[in-house]
Amino acid sequence: MPAKPLFSIRDLDVEYHTRGGDVRAVESVSFDIRRGEILGLVGESACGKSTMGKALMRLHRKPARITNGQLLFDGRDLMTLTEDEMRFVRGGEIGMVFQDPMTSLNPVQKIIEHLTETIHAHEPNTTNEEAHRRAGELAEKLGIRSERLNEYPHQMSGGMRQRVMISLALALRAKLVIADEPTTSLDVIVEANFLDLLRELRHEFDLTILLITHNIGVVAEICDRVAVMYAAHLVEIGDVRKIFTNPKHPYTRGLLRSVPNIDLDDKDLYKMEGAPPSLLDPPSGCRFHPRCPDRMKICSRKNPVLQKVGSDSQVACWLYSKEGKA
Ligand SMILES: Nc1ncnc2c1ncn2[C@@H]1O[C@H](COP(=O)(O)OP(=O)(O)OP(=O)(O)O)[C@@H](O)[C@H]1O
Ligand SMILES: [Mg+2]
Repeated sequence: MPAKPLFSIRDLDVEYHTRGGDVRAVESVSFDIRRGEILGLVGESACGKSTMGKALMRLHRKPARITNGQLLFDGRDLMTLTEDEMRFVRGGEIGMVFQDPMTSLNPVQKIIEHLTETIHAHEPNTTNEEAHRRAGELAEKLGIRSERLNEYPHQMSGGMRQRVMISLALALRAKLVIADEPTTSLDVIVEANFLDLLRELRHEFDLTILLITHNIGVVAEICDRVAVMYAAHLVEIGDVRKIFTNPKHPYTRGLLRSVPNIDLDDKDLYKMEGAPPSLLDPPSGCRFHPRCPDRMKICSRKNPVLQKVGSDSQVACWLYSKEGKA
């Protein structure tokens, strides 16, 4: 029997209340994050990736609201926890790495203080020496030389700060790290090093990683599975190699064909027609139908739900359902 997923997200809805109306940035999203995997989350800008990443840790802030859903993390529904209990989950069990770590680090605190304070906040019985020892060991594993622990965040490069963020998550032995565009501000060499590091840490610390990114190349390189979002909906999820060689959803197909250097049958670089819809007033039925080259009558009338196709993939598209073909 397959191991129980680390995180099961069920029927998640997240809305922003704005003057112009409610923006549903995540709608009826259900998927699992498996233990030990690196799951990529991709989709065009503004489709709801970051909103979802934050909501998974209940880190979303007004005007965002989770209006429905269960967040079953390692046997508990995070939606039922108090804010105090959530504080221990954040950092302690789930760590987050953002695009710009400067915003999450305290500019007047040395790196060593970030690490030891984090350890003390979650594990108050740890002695000072023990916290320092653990911080030093972690930093070394992450390629941060011990003398640099006495520096302030602004003295470090973007790549170094990313390493600090990861070490903060690992200091508490987090089971899951949610990384939102962690490599966008890094140059390609630092990016490659950082990806190698994620891969190593995954094995060494038995870490599970949700990697939110625009970069399909990064997904191809390090992810085991990939989830594709379009206009607040999850439209396809499955094994990276299978999806990259045989994408099922027409949106996934278009997305992959728009990326140079991905080895699909079609060699010409493709430009997807149209633009993503406004989430204030999304299209009826399948949200992708106005741009879909394969649309059928049912597509504008009814929204397809995710269903199993093949052994280990799911897709939300009428092309793969009996009802769509009827
Ligand atoms: N504070 C906010 N108030 C109102 N609407 C918001 C707010 N933040 C995000 N949104 C809307 O929610 C939707 C999803 O945004 P989100 O930032 O989650 O997208 P994303 O997929 O992470 O995009 P990107 O790839 O550009 O980072 C967008 O339509 C956005 O306009
Ligand atoms: Mg984002």
